[in-house]
Amino acid sequence: MKAAVYYQNGGPEVLKYEDVPDPVCHPKGVVIRVEAVSIEGGDTLNRWHGPLLTKPHVVGYQAGGEIVEVGSEVTNLRVGQKVATSYNFGSHAALRSVPARSAWPVPKGFDVKLASTIPVTFGTAADCLFEFGRLKAGETVLVQAGASGVGVAAIQLAKRAGATVLATASSDERLERLKPLGLDHGINYRTDDVVKSVMKITNNRGVDLVVDPVGGATLQGSLLSLAYRGRVSMVGAAGREPMTVDVSPLMAGNRSLTGVFLGAEIGTERAHNMIQRLIEEAARGELKVVIDRTFPLSEAGAAHAYIESRNAVGRVLLIP
Ligand SMILES: NC(=O)c1ccc[n+]([C@@H]2O[C@H](COP(=O)([O-])OP(=O)(O)OC[C@H]3O[C@@H](n4cnc5c(N)ncnc54)[C@H](OP(=O)(O)O)[C@@H]3O)[C@@H](O)[C@H]2O)c1
Repeated sequence: MKAAVYYQNGGPEVLKYEDVPDPVCHPKGVVIRVEAVSIEGGDTLNRWHGPLLTKPHVVGYQAGGEIVEVGSEVTNLRVGQKVATSYNFGSHAALRSVPARSAWPVPKGFDVKLASTIPVTFGTAADCLFEFGRLKAGETVLVQAGASGVGVAAIQLAKRAGATVLATASSDERLERLKPLGLDHGINYRTDDVVKSVMKITNNRGVDLVVDPVGGATLQGSLLSLAYRGRVSMVGAAGREPMTVDVSPLMAGNRSLTGVFLGAEIGTERAHNMIQRLIEEAARGELKVVIDRTFPLSEAGAAHAYIESRNAVGRVLLIP
């Protein structure tokens, strides 16, 4: 099969388009013919410095497509079914093999390309807001990197849950594109101080919850933006900075900082069902999947470079 592979970590230029052996179907898994690869922020970070679990390595968490082979022990999936998949590697390819637990059936009539983006982005956002963030209606949420895949999902889910939604991004144009998704107050962190802006918008109260996929100096700002009893769901390191933060703002305000890693629970019944529900809600039009651009799989390097140019809002897809 064709795949976008690399032999060493590095910039987008390490990605090559090559023939590699077809993946093998595990007795407890399925193989899909990939129709869309949803490039995750984690894919670009793994390309920079993640372990090469296969050689050449096929990176990538998310892809959607049609099942072409079903393992002998799998009873709930069948050949011909469209599924969204998420696994530790292997999305940037024409075929991918995943455990059955890592595949979610796509409702009839819903485009598998759109569904391919949902498990990690919406699943992570939901865990940041609800499972670990304990968001309640009427609260105020700050979504750092609001234009990211996780951010676009978090804004919609928070708004739908009855929260007031603030988000940061690196340009006014990016913030503008988030308004139809439910953004109430945008903060351009290149032109405005985030903590001061949050305090101004909230009349010096601060926010109840921050979803922070950026880390580093941004995470420090998240801690300083919290209201009394505020919580931070720290979920990523998109900023590529060291995670050295001063946690002293937490104690006196009964505030908390919680790490969130969907990967640790994605195989549980709770997370699996939660992701299936999100796919069904998107299929009914209750959640919007935002696709910024698509590239052919053969141009995976250009697609990664485009994501790292920080012009994308939502997801960038590769089409084999
Ligand atoms: N823990 C988990 O379970 C989990 C699950 C999913 C994702 N994640 C993590 O969450 C983060 C975001 O993932 P994603 O898929 O939503 O990412 P994404 O769609 O690629 O977006 C990342 C965004 O981060 C912002 N950013 C800030 N500083 C940056 C920098 N130095 N370089 C590049 N971008 C920077 C950019 O927006 P602006 O230009 O507007 O700032 C960019 O659009 C990643 O670190 C990913 O690994 C974690």
